Amino acid sequence: MRLKSLLGADARKLVQKAVYFELFASHLYRQIAACMQSAGFFGVQKWFEQEAADELVHFGIWRDYLNDRSDMAEIPQLPLIKERPETLGDALQLAFKTEKDLGDFYADMYDRLEDDIRDITTATRVLKFIEIQTESIGEYGDYLARLERCAGDAAAILALDQFIGDKANG
Ligand SMILES: [Fe+2]
Ligand SMILES: [Fe+2]
Repeated sequence: MRLKSLLGADARKLVQKAVYFELFASHLYRQIAACMQSAGFFGVQKWFEQEAADELVHFGIWRDYLNDRSDMAEIPQLPLIKERPETLGDALQLAFKTEKDLGDFYADMYDRLEDDIRDITTATRVLKFIEIQTESIGEYGDYLARLERCAGDAAAILALDQFIGDKANG
């Protein structure tokens, strides 16, 4: 017999949204990786392949959480990715915005779980994701700062591409 879900309808909806956003991020980063490959930025390509894999790990944390709460992740349909970044700057900006938006979502999710929904168990799990987002946003901020230092110099940008590639898996 399946147990009744320990999540209320509102908490469940929020966790499902998190499932969607993590899968979406993986999907988006896979596309960015392909774009960077075609632009010849093989370091950043490697970075985004790693990012895409990390987002699937994050999805897995929510999937397991839902299971722990006698519930189940619903695998959503993902949209077609229309963005085609061609420069390192466009790719990093897009990822920065994606991570920032997700960070804002988790902050809001925490607030609602804690204040309105009163689901402290789920709120506590969200804290982990707020930390993940803070770190990720900081990383992209650092890369964008370094890119600015390149001042459009092609050799410097290729060196940055390699620098970022070396960070993947590290
Ligand atoms: Fe993530
Ligand atoms: Fe991320």
